[in-house]
Amino acid sequence: MSQLVLCRRGCVGAKLHDAKAKLGLPRGGRRPTLMVRAGVEELIKPLTSLGKVADLKSGIATFYDESSELWENMWGEHMHHGYYPKGAPPKSNQQAQVDMIEETLKVAGVTEVRSVGVRAMVDVGCGIGGSSRYLSRRFGCRSAGITLSPKQAARANAISQAEGFGDKLHFQVGDALAQPFESGSFDLVWSMESGEHMPDKKQFVSELARVCAPGGSVIVVTWCHRVLAPGEAALRPDEAALLDRICEAYYLPAWCSVEDYSKLFEAQGLTDIQTRDWSEEVSPFWGAVISTALTGEGLAGLLRAGWTTIKGALVMPLMAEGFRRGLIKFNVITARKPAATATP
Ligand SMILES: C[S@@+](CC[C@H](N)C(=O)[O-])C[C@H]1O[C@@H](n2cnc3c(N)ncnc32)[C@H](O)[C@@H]1O
Repeated sequence: MSQLVLCRRGCVGAKLHDAKAKLGLPRGGRRPTLMVRAGVEELIKPLTSLGKVADLKSGIATFYDESSELWENMWGEHMHHGYYPKGAPPKSNQQAQVDMIEETLKVAGVTEVRSVGVRAMVDVGCGIGGSSRYLSRRFGCRSAGITLSPKQAARANAISQAEGFGDKLHFQVGDALAQPFESGSFDLVWSMESGEHMPDKKQFVSELARVCAPGGSVIVVTWCHRVLAPGEAALRPDEAALLDRICEAYYLPAWCSVEDYSKLFEAQGLTDIQTRDWSEEVSPFWGAVISTALTGEGLAGLLRAGWTTIKGALVMPLMAEGFRRGLIKFNVITARKPAATATP
């Protein structure tokens, strides 16, 4: 668990680490067409570190305050990757995002509303509430969402009211690392692509487990770095440099691997831990995002949204490159909190 908590000083971005061995890990089969020349990480460093903030939380809040409207206009209510399995018929990006939710539920075994009994869920890092609305329609459940972005929370509430959810859904500004909820409150604890923003993964998983009701499910879908090879202490410097640029642009702390997450889940006493690597299944995503950014509407929206969002757009090819190199992984981790045992 080499790189779990690196931003104690409040810095944004992972540190470079010495690598001890070359890996030669197999890479994913399908390659995005975008290639990034070696060394580009250093070339764009002055741009990605321009406007860097010392405080990660306010950086994240500002990033989503400024970029969410553009994302919603171009892509809709879901702010996460789509699921595009190999050989499947073409589909819209929005359908691919819904499929991501459905496929994730299957991994967790949370598919049948009656057998699962999802009455209340928490949407940790809720964006503008797309997952909550989808899952509330699916299970008839209530949802409480938290985000660091005041604009996202307001927009999530406005859309949900307009769509008739009433008091079933509520979104607020809140920190995933100190959740404003009683222990054991939720049958379903859902974190779709927010874990990568968490500077303390141990505290993050501990809070997910705490707010989960006995017998409930915890689901994390997140960006990870590759699993380190035996004897390898850290990522290679070139890999760390690539992640550093992404961290600066997207306000991310240090990354960890899916193996690290599994250990954290185990340490919390969670059971039935399932993991998936869907790096192949999401591979068309960044090309699709770049295509929409390069339209007239996308470029005009980027200019309106400002530098923070433009910086995010500049590193999109680095995300594709990270997947191509087998460095960035798209992982799912699901588990159950054991049901309470009756005391004799
Ligand atoms: C990529 S968006 C995903 C949004 C949403 N889950 C979805 O799939 O549409 C990441 C979200 O994580 C939230 N986030 C990041 N760090 C957080 C933290 N410490 N506490 C609460 N939310 C956080 C951001 O505010 C943002 O809403």
